[in-house]
Amino acid sequence: MNYNEVMQNAKKLVNGKCKACDVCNGLACKFTMPGPGCRPPYNTAARNYEKWQDVFLNMDNISQRQPIDTTFEIFGREFDMPVIAAPIGAPQLHFSERYNEEIEYDVEAMAGCAEADIAACYWVGFEEDTYLNKLEVMKNQGIGGFLIPSIKPFSNSKFKRYVDMSKEYGMPAILMDIDGAGLPMFKENVDDAGCKNTESLRELREYTDMPFILKGIMTVSGARKALEAGFDTIVVSNHGGRVLSCMPSTAEVLEEICDAVGDKMTVLVDGGIRTGYDVFRALALGAHGVLIARPLAIAVVGGGKDGVKPYIDMLKKDLCDAMEMCGAHSLAEINRSMVRVIK
Ligand SMILES: Cc1cc2nc3c(=O)[nH]c(=O)nc-3n(C[C@H](O)[C@H](O)[C@H](O)COP(=O)(O)O)c2cc1C
Repeated sequence: MNYNEVMQNAKKLVNGKCKACDVCNGLACKFTMPGPGCRPPYNTAARNYEKWQDVFLNMDNISQRQPIDTTFEIFGREFDMPVIAAPIGAPQLHFSERYNEEIEYDVEAMAGCAEADIAACYWVGFEEDTYLNKLEVMKNQGIGGFLIPSIKPFSNSKFKRYVDMSKEYGMPAILMDIDGAGLPMFKENVDDAGCKNTESLRELREYTDMPFILKGIMTVSGARKALEAGFDTIVVSNHGGRVLSCMPSTAEVLEEICDAVGDKMTVLVDGGIRTGYDVFRALALGAHGVLIARPLAIAVVGGGKDGVKPYIDMLKKDLCDAMEMCGAHSLAEINRSMVRVIK
């Protein structure tokens, strides 16, 4: 299956809220929630996409010709690309009914990411039974890969039970979307959950020796608080505009956050990253790696597990192109001088 076939198929299978657009730029889905859109009144998802377009590549290929290496290391594991699948909750509601049950989607998505050699986050569900069931199904189906459960900022006692389950089933890392506190669905469905202060976060960070990613950082002060709470890996993310409206794009805040904490923490970023050129842009502004959500969900709708690799291959081709033409042969060689921000 090639990427074009994946997309043609996705266009037939999406639910109309998602339209599987050729460019996933947040315009056609706008404020559809349920659906893949964002919270009104301002289209933060569209801004996420747009602001990467202000980051231009400084071509300079007067350099030694040598192979391009996109190897990415995180938590002691090497991957082919600095790309991680971002968590997507309730895809059957937001994208397509191709998968009636969330777990059917997760199995395809996780298997596809393993095949494409990228790490993958998945949403654990509001109920502990739901998570247990997911863990069982994934174990029984022999889903390999580097799977990262995404746990919402539940009460600390509930969060710890999710951590225990994750450890018991051999998950290599965990993630908390701290910004999930703003999700309307979360507020309505879960008692005793929401914002957490530094002490509360530290308690959770110290509870487990598992690698632990904190997702949903949008300011330098937020990044510093994450550091203070003991985290060494954050995701600069505004949750695709779904937890709060009127936010800046992640491209606009990334550089200052990386300047402040990038030498002390692994800084990942998501929001509107669609192509290998965008991956390059993010790394040039200081990120160590990126997460991608909506386009991967569309790829899974269109091609099941076989939809993931064609998309990742396309990202890799364009990333290698950008690296070669800007004079970087490894991810470590990508730097700020290789891009120019023109507003
Ligand atoms: C339908 C939908 C569901 C999402 N569910 C989750 C979730 O359960 N946990 C989470 O941390 N992020 C969730 N996100 C946010 C994404 O992981 C990601 O941060 C955001 O969509 C920005 O990336 P993108 O522009 O590549 O989509 C969701 C996003 C969408 C569109």
